[in-house]
Amino acid sequence: MSFPRNRMRRLRNSENIRRLVRETALSVEDFIYPLFIVGQEGVKQPIQSMPGIWQLSVDQLAAEIEEIMALGIKAVLLFGLPEYKDAVGSASWQDNGVVQRAIREIKSHSPDLLVIGDVCLCEYTDHGHCGYIENNDVNNDKTLELLARQALSYVGAGCDIIAPSDMMDGRIGFIREELDANNYQDTIIMSYAAKYASAFYGPFREAADSAPQFGDRRTYQMDPPNIREALREVKLDIEEGADIVMVKPALAYLDVIKAVKDEFNHPLAAYNVSGEYSMIKAAGMKGWIDEERVMLEMLTAIKRAGADMIITYFAKDAARVLNRQKM
Ligand code: PBG
Repeated sequence: MSFPRNRMRRLRNSENIRRLVRETALSVEDFIYPLFIVGQEGVKQPIQSMPGIWQLSVDQLAAEIEEIMALGIKAVLLFGLPEYKDAVGSASWQDNGVVQRAIREIKSHSPDLLVIGDVCLCEYTDHGHCGYIENNDVNNDKTLELLARQALSYVGAGCDIIAPSDMMDGRIGFIREELDANNYQDTIIMSYAAKYASAFYGPFREAADSAPQFGDRRTYQMDPPNIREALREVKLDIEEGADIVMVKPALAYLDVIKAVKDEFNHPLAAYNVSGEYSMIKAAGMKGWIDEERVMLEMLTAIKRAGADMIITYFAKDAARVLNRQKM
């Protein structure tokens, strides 16, 4: 006995009943906000392809962090644009490196704000690849040593969470061992576990000045058609000690987010990447879509798929809307 006894529309009849039966709630506390830090002074440089996002120098951080905290955002993810690049990315493990200085600056103002350091060499190498180059390819095992140096240096500066984004094999276990050997047993590792070789990273490579100078990243990042391989990647990273695993990008990979959540029930982050941001900003600026509603719908979908937390350039915009709705 279905219709007319059952009527699905009863529970859609008013905003209040819709709220009562709503299955997914977005919260400001789900968001992680990425920041691009530059070494020089007095820089607040807009990123052309990402309206509303800037490259900031360390001296500009205090104001930015105040705004972020006032909105209720609890975590930031740091990317560095170093003063120099070389073949091995040595600027990434200098004690006075740009991210190290940013971590100290943030921690001196706001010790409670969670600081996540993206651990990867592509912003620091002159060839733009995420590791040590040998015979025109990234040498996996030699790269692990470099990543561990970078990770240790970030943690030494006060970083709470290390987020390796390079997709080398074995790096989670390698970095975990190095951290433990240096008495950093309590440092959290958030692994970019299932990271695809995606064209959605285009605007980021302008923002972080990290485009590869030859070839592409397809020998280390995942092939977009694969999902069973993503489950293997996540399984390995959990076994190696990842506290949080990540799927990246998010919007075109909701099936992967759901599969990872269902299979492992492990704390799960999704990265709502630069291209996903720029598409919505551009269409919104043209008046082709309602930017605010599309933003919320997208973020809600990522959460509905199973993400516990979302790294998003929309964090501040979305926080403003959610805080307004609360009042
Ligand atoms: C570094 C890194 C990238 C992103 C995050 N960390 C770029 C890449 O892998 O090419 C992309 C983030 C975004 O597009 O928002 N390896």
